[in-house]
Amino acid sequence: MTRIKRHQRYLSLAALLVLPSVTEVKSATLATSFYGSTQDGRHVNLYTMTSARGLTVKFISYGGRLTEILAPDRKGHIADVILGFPSMKDYEAKDKEGGFYFGALIGRYANRIAGGHFTLDGQQYTLAINNPPNSLHGGIKGFDKFVWDVQPISTSGPLVSAKLSLTSPDGDEGYPGTLQVTVTYTLSDDNALTINYEATTDKDTVLNLTNHAYFNLAGAGAAGGVFPQVLTLNANAYLPTDKTSIPLGPPEPVSGTPFDFRTPTPIGAHIRANDPQILLARGYDHSWVLNKSGDTSRPQLAALAVDPDSGRTLECLTTEPGLQVYTSNFIDAQYAGIGGVYRQSDAFALETQHFPDSPNHPDYPTTELKPGQTFYSTTIFRFGVQQ
Ligand code: GAL
Repeated sequence: MTRIKRHQRYLSLAALLVLPSVTEVKSATLATSFYGSTQDGRHVNLYTMTSARGLTVKFISYGGRLTEILAPDRKGHIADVILGFPSMKDYEAKDKEGGFYFGALIGRYANRIAGGHFTLDGQQYTLAINNPPNSLHGGIKGFDKFVWDVQPISTSGPLVSAKLSLTSPDGDEGYPGTLQVTVTYTLSDDNALTINYEATTDKDTVLNLTNHAYFNLAGAGAAGGVFPQVLTLNANAYLPTDKTSIPLGPPEPVSGTPFDFRTPTPIGAHIRANDPQILLARGYDHSWVLNKSGDTSRPQLAALAVDPDSGRTLECLTTEPGLQVYTSNFIDAQYAGIGGVYRQSDAFALETQHFPDSPNHPDYPTTELKPGQTFYSTTIFRFGVQQ
């Protein structure tokens, strides 16, 4: 089955919400333009994908970053629903200050590895420590700072797509094996952005890939932040952490805790609860263990977010076992982006991934990849409106 056919099969799972109507059949488009240059002279392109139903997704080759997602509300008004920045200079300046990974593809290992150490095949590996005492999001120069090679695959039709690829050399940030990674961004006429990840290695290694978009369905920089936006998570359990955000051990039930989003709950409803986990993270910054049933090679519903005011909705489906929900706890008015000055709780990230620190938790789903195997992962972000 081709990737596109498989993708269309997944879409039937997501048909929960209405889409903005389309009066005439138009084609989706993908356009390429020059975005800017990195400080060390690398050429960065901007890719603009627009669906027949008026969703626009922009990304750049630097970090494969989603820079803008322009989504209609129930009245057809357009807003940019992710936090982004206007120029290459902005992105590189933020990265020097420690990041925040705005819109970026994350690898080799999304989330943290405790102490920057893990053992594989009896050998201990030491990683770059960029979030003391841990290694975070691939280390000092993760995939968010690579300029990816981007090949448009389909530039018009019912869906448009582009393939991003990179080679991470053996020993990169301390990880073993030469890793070949491709990520395909596809925008389809149901306003779904599908992200397909694939990777191969020439030595045993570990990996965990995700995208780090920060969403605000009211529009980036909207004064009320995301507290009124209503989240539902398809998860009965989550992973409590220590004070450095490393999971303590086995999943804990969400029942009776501020982590219970099994029914639609405003993000702000319990974010001020006097709960030790909320205090440690300054909000939500945890991995939920997604409920799964049947064929786990197909993306299954992980999250649904709704902005009651605008009616904009976002469904997230994934093949990954976990979802890190991060309420932008450490963004504190230090950056002005396309949507204005970004503050704490201005956005939520839905990072589909394996669990943090899995290489040091043999009871978690494995993150190991061996030569001859291909890693596959799919995440769908589907935008709609609720009347
Ligand atoms: C998240 C992580 C947070 C924070 C953020 C980047 O994925 O869970 O703890 O590091 O990335 O600022």
